[in-house]
Amino acid sequence: MKDNNDTITSTLTEERRFAPPAAFAARAQLGDPAQAQALREAAASDPVAYWSDAARQELRWTKPFTQGLDWSRAPHAQWFADGELNVSDNCLDRHCESGRLHKAALIWEGEPVNGNEPEVRTLTYGQLRAQVQRAAQVLTRLGVQKGDRVAIYLPLIPEAAIAMLACARIGAVHSVIFGGFSAESLRDRINDAGAKLVITADGGWRRGQALRLKDVVDEALGHRTPTVTSVLVVQRTGHDVAMSAGRDHWWHEHMEASKATGTSVPVPAEHPLFILYTSGTTGKPKGILHTTGGYLTHVTRTFKQVFDIRDDDLYWCTADVGWITGHSYVVYGPLSAGATVFLYEGAPAFPDKNRFWDIIERHRISIFYTAPTALRTFMAWGEAPILKHDLSSLRLLGTVGEPINPAAWVWYHEVIGGGRCPIVDTWWQTETGGILIAPLPGVQACVPGTATLPLPGILPDIVGPDGASQPANAGGLLVLKHPWPGMARTIWGDDARFKDTYFSRVPGSYFTGDGARRDSDGNFWIMGRVDDVLNVSGHRIGTMEVESALVSHPLVAEAAVVGRPDLLTGQALVAFVTLNLGTPQHPGLAEDLRQHVSREIGALARPAEVRFAAALPKTRSGKIMRRLLRELAGQGTVSGDTSTLEDLSVLEALRTADE
Ligand code: PRX
Repeated sequence: MKDNNDTITSTLTEERRFAPPAAFAARAQLGDPAQAQALREAAASDPVAYWSDAARQELRWTKPFTQGLDWSRAPHAQWFADGELNVSDNCLDRHCESGRLHKAALIWEGEPVNGNEPEVRTLTYGQLRAQVQRAAQVLTRLGVQKGDRVAIYLPLIPEAAIAMLACARIGAVHSVIFGGFSAESLRDRINDAGAKLVITADGGWRRGQALRLKDVVDEALGHRTPTVTSVLVVQRTGHDVAMSAGRDHWWHEHMEASKATGTSVPVPAEHPLFILYTSGTTGKPKGILHTTGGYLTHVTRTFKQVFDIRDDDLYWCTADVGWITGHSYVVYGPLSAGATVFLYEGAPAFPDKNRFWDIIERHRISIFYTAPTALRTFMAWGEAPILKHDLSSLRLLGTVGEPINPAAWVWYHEVIGGGRCPIVDTWWQTETGGILIAPLPGVQACVPGTATLPLPGILPDIVGPDGASQPANAGGLLVLKHPWPGMARTIWGDDARFKDTYFSRVPGSYFTGDGARRDSDGNFWIMGRVDDVLNVSGHRIGTMEVESALVSHPLVAEAAVVGRPDLLTGQALVAFVTLNLGTPQHPGLAEDLRQHVSREIGALARPAEVRFAAALPKTRSGKIMRRLLRELAGQGTVSGDTSTLEDLSVLEALRTADE
């Protein structure tokens, strides 16, 4: 076992239960507990039959499938493999043909620019399809074919969803890269996927600043990106950008030259839909591959179940499309379910802290899905901005990304939800494709701090180091014992790593990387990662990635990055750094190193603290003893100057004891 497995102990006991409010349960899609129980039992006894029914009920297939799951190539699941369908057809055309042509699919609000009223754009299902049809033609015109990879590096504007759906429409595979990643990270991802085309924008608005995305793309493509032949540039901020003749094209010019016609290309259920990079325990991000039929079944069914969606709902998930939440529960799940999705380009505190509450009031948002780190920030701002607004349109709240502490849960329930909205705490991962553990809000009590029970057709377990199922309340590793349709199919270009990371630790099961316990009611309490992956503001950051970035700085000899608890961000990154022999430490070096990490990976990976040490504590075999560093980092910040040289000789002395 890893040295940090001893962190899987839980002392949290939470007795409060929040039963579904009668008014909510009365109108819920699934409001009868006996019916829900029967569904759970049937799904548990035959998950393949359950998911096969879901695939038929939730989606339109151009060629029906005859087989549910083929697990003969384990751990590569094949779901509904002989069926054919198209994701964009399911998200758009079938709704246009069945009464939702004029229903809003996307309502987007931009960040208010220069004190003006924010721009609002509404796209009905019919209008969104027209845009996607045009965009699909643009991709084809630029030489993108079925199976080709397209990198998408956009702000949160409707074109992000349009680009994703246009790729799906022609069977191209998208790789969305969050706009906060640096040129270096963007280039690595473009090269790893072998992208032919990059779709970007001149920029996007964030906290009143124009993020100059095209400049970052130019830097990324400046050297060694051999597969990229074209760049499509959406105009958003309107600032000047360099356009490279022959390579760069304006999105709007090509869209105007295209027609709103054309059907989608049916693809086999196991055709790749997208690659999404996420951090792991090595320095190299993993390109998680998701395919078509199983993924869409999973996100459609779970979106409907967990968010109890109705045709009159206005649903707002605050995630960026650059993350899995943005793929599964901003774009694919909601649109496949025919919902109306609200999108907001900007940040919650710009131009002031009323922003989100003003949006909920003006647009009458009914379902709001966000991350615990955002909630803790709102709590810290106080209730005044919230109480000024009428949030009575809200009927259901959700959280995702990290464990939510009961205090934040109860605050969410009372202050934002007015005590009347169930809260769905949804546990899942980039690799799982969609939600696996969450309440069914019409039929079961929500419990602050736990995502509660697995969804129907999902079979998790808590196991000890030997793989044996643990009794109630004993901590252990969270695993999935049976394949599910949305599960990742491989790591792009590194299948050995896929098998090793997820299927070698607990034979026969998918290993999540999370520690958890199950209470005597069967609720799953997630206790965080058991590997060298940190969760900062709900974003996964591999410590090794940050360490590689630090040691690429010319003055750094060695670096170890650990997490410490942080009230707002959940965890914060603390970097212990030793400098090359003879390098004098100068004031400002810590800040230089933080900026260096920002440049290499992106601002989201910038360490909260950089601490210098003459040497790092190591085992005899040379492994850095992170557990000791974690303890040191967790005891609080060093007083005064953070560039004080750390005396780790005390830890060094402990090493024999720890081996
Ligand atoms: O540790 C768990 C935590 O986030 C990890 C997955 O991160 P990522 O792939 O970036 O996806 C985030 C959005 C789905 C998990 O292994 N996590 C996610 N949701 C929860 C959570 N921890 C506790 N409770 C949750 N609801």
